[in-house]
Amino acid sequence: MKIKEILQSEGNEQKIHVKGWVRTRRGSKHVSFIALNDGSTINSIQVVAEASDFDEELVKQITTGSCISVSGKLVASKGSGQAVEILAKTIEILGGADADEYPLQPKKHSLEFLREKAHLRFRTNTFSAVFRLRHALTFAVHKFFNDKGFFNLHTPIITGTDAEGAGEIFQVTNLDLENLPKNEEGKIDFSADFFGSKTNLTVSGQLEAELGALALGQVYTFGPTFRAENSNTSRHLSEFWMIEPEVAFADLNENMDLAEEFLKYCIQYCIENNAEDLQFLDARMEEEESKLKKEERSEMGLLERLQFVIENNFVRLTYREAIDVLRNSKPNKKKKFQYPINGFGDDLQSEHERYLVEKKYKKPVIITDYPKGIKAFYMRMNEDNETVRAMDILFPTIGEIVGGSQREERLDKLQERMEEMDVCQKELWWYLETRKFGTCTHSGFGLGFERLIMFVTGMKNIRDVIPFPRTPQNAEF
Ligand code: 4AD
Ligand code: MG
Repeated sequence: MKIKEILQSEGNEQKIHVKGWVRTRRGSKHVSFIALNDGSTINSIQVVAEASDFDEELVKQITTGSCISVSGKLVASKGSGQAVEILAKTIEILGGADADEYPLQPKKHSLEFLREKAHLRFRTNTFSAVFRLRHALTFAVHKFFNDKGFFNLHTPIITGTDAEGAGEIFQVTNLDLENLPKNEEGKIDFSADFFGSKTNLTVSGQLEAELGALALGQVYTFGPTFRAENSNTSRHLSEFWMIEPEVAFADLNENMDLAEEFLKYCIQYCIENNAEDLQFLDARMEEEESKLKKEERSEMGLLERLQFVIENNFVRLTYREAIDVLRNSKPNKKKKFQYPINGFGDDLQSEHERYLVEKKYKKPVIITDYPKGIKAFYMRMNEDNETVRAMDILFPTIGEIVGGSQREERLDKLQERMEEMDVCQKELWWYLETRKFGTCTHSGFGLGFERLIMFVTGMKNIRDVIPFPRTPQNAEF
């Protein structure tokens, strides 16, 4: 039986068989109390082993981290802290864990330490809670879109395009790097490469999702994306998961409505289905924050913050309005921003995003209509010919969580932008054909899945919400 199920049962002396990993063993000469966890829930079951029933040598092997199989009966607990406990009849050691060598001691370890032990960190309360929530959010994403009649589309992981045009791509090749084939001009001959052309890992499934939307109506992707940004921050991964819906006939306003509804749904889903894990993480965050200086602490606890986001409308403002607010803000006037805001055209840095969300509006904020110069080629041009129908959603403590736009559906305008931005039209002939044949208004966005998990779990470093993080200089495990 799974421990989750056992803990919901009454202790009527019924026979129980359970397997799991030992969190702790304490007790006396006469009796041992074993906290056993099998990952099904944050809570462990207490196993009581009377010394008279067991071989002393066996009991000694029941150390933190060892894996055991227990048979016995479930009874109402005599102690406080748990309603039921297992009176063990037989215990089998399935896999021992040498107490001197096992890296996880029954005490609090730092997240940095646990990152180096990523193969074992699932066995801690914090990480098991985070990864159960990661699963719940995955499920919520699919449920949300399925219930709305979207189709999940698997877009390619190996591609020849750089959808975002930022050049942060990982090349994919099976050419012998020591001995590269060259063409007549002395350049690398990619026609000799595996796919007969230059390829890379995808930075986004958007362009292919657009092709799907212009036939299936509403699609979404949910896959890994790869970016060779050399930004070693707490919010960037080199390999992360992105959810990208794409909707035919939707304009930017409908796109924002969808994104807001989607984010609230995912958070609500966790509140309803993962209460125990969230309560644990809420308490954990409170404890972590108590170590900070008062001015660095968040105004809200984790659960309170999640509820707050669900209950309030996101603030919507244009980039021009945001720049005005920022230019006239106290930190800008007092030269407290590392990147001062001078005016139109300035890119928003995370310090600006956090000011708007955490200080000014104290709510999630959606900024629209950015200058064309700081956004990708595919965004729809506004009448002013200076701004595009982009939207970024900014979240408290996270900054940008969603980036999206209404797409340029007019062939001539799209070609114009590609020319200006030096995007190769020949390579994207298939993308352009959707504008040539049966084009229509359409929009979509990308949600950084790990950033959503950070928000829901209160974890402050993105490396702690993905099982095995890939970051510059690190691809272990
Ligand atoms: O804003 P981005 O670059 O948008 C796109 O890729 C569009 N093609 C999406 C679309 O319209 N279909 O990325 C979308 C989101 C960001 O808002 C952020 O949450 C996340 O992806 N993201 C990252 N997450 C972790 N590590 C990174 N290096 C990330 N880069 C972007
Ligand atoms: Mg973005």
